[in-house]
Amino acid sequence: MLEKLQELKKEVVQKIQTITQAKALQEYKIEILSKKGAFSYFMEELKKVPNEEKPSLGQKINEVKVQLTSLFEEKENELKQKELKEKLEKERIDVTLPGYQYQTGSKHPMNIVIDEIIQIFLPLGYKVEEGPEVEQDFYNFECLNIPKNHPARDMQDTFYITDNVLLRTHTSPVQARTMEKNKEKTPIKILCPGKVYRRDDDDATHSHQFMQLEALVIDKDITMANLKATLDLVAKKLFGEKRQIRLRASYFPFTEPSVEVDVSCTCNRKGCPVCKDTGWIEILGAGMVHPNVLKMGGYDPSQYKGFAIGFGIDRITMLKYGIDDIRHLYNNDLRVITQFKKER
Ligand code: PHE
Repeated sequence: MLEKLQELKKEVVQKIQTITQAKALQEYKIEILSKKGAFSYFMEELKKVPNEEKPSLGQKINEVKVQLTSLFEEKENELKQKELKEKLEKERIDVTLPGYQYQTGSKHPMNIVIDEIIQIFLPLGYKVEEGPEVEQDFYNFECLNIPKNHPARDMQDTFYITDNVLLRTHTSPVQARTMEKNKEKTPIKILCPGKVYRRDDDDATHSHQFMQLEALVIDKDITMANLKATLDLVAKKLFGEKRQIRLRASYFPFTEPSVEVDVSCTCNRKGCPVCKDTGWIEILGAGMVHPNVLKMGGYDPSQYKGFAIGFGIDRITMLKYGIDDIRHLYNNDLRVITQFKKER
């Protein structure tokens, strides 16, 4: 039996050397050392020998078992190390490769301009108001002194949804809604930014959807001087301290008097594409709120006065950043839009 024991040991030592996979080793270990494995034969045999031989024989069998067990353990460790090494080789990280570039978002240039205008007005006590883009004819036109069938409607080519519902053509309906809501409370000092729609053919300076920002003030003792001072402040903050403004008489049905506002150009009048050598750039429309508009909004025109300013955000953005085609603002071409990242 001792011979057989040595034989088994020899066989195991040899076989283990040839094994290269952890799984095969595990299977072989079961084959030899498990309860029904090859080694169990000796345990069965041990039962059969006379009692006095049991201790010394048992000790020998046990020694071999311990030896075999540690042989398996050693080989297991060896294979584990080998597998780890192979994995590390395979998954080696090349630290010289360039890292992934993540695209970060940036504010749209028009939103930058809207934010800037809001930041100029907030310290003066203005609040931001919003209104619906699908608007009633009543707020978009009638409350603003543009009755049905009045020729002034031709100024704003309109997308009608029904006879009385339309896509707002300007942000002025928010004026009318705010007056109605405030019920003769004063002062009203609001800013209304938002999208507006007109039935224009799209070209370099026209888009069927564009952005406006409306400022409205209503209080007692508001005069044209307040309007002019406000416009001057805004022009200087938006375009630079050296800029001046010029008011030209104009016409809007909802303001009287009405003005177009120009800001001075910084060029030397030698072929300037922006002001066409006139020295002035038209930036917005404004005026004193028409008495009829005050009346429709529930304010007594003999007591209350007001002014309104209509910023064309597209135009101001194009001027500020030297963008020559309005379509660049709406095509969402990342090559254009991400240029304004620094301005966040
Ligand atoms: N709502 C006018 C427009 O879109 C602009 C404007 C607003 C003019 C306020 C004067 C005062 O044409």
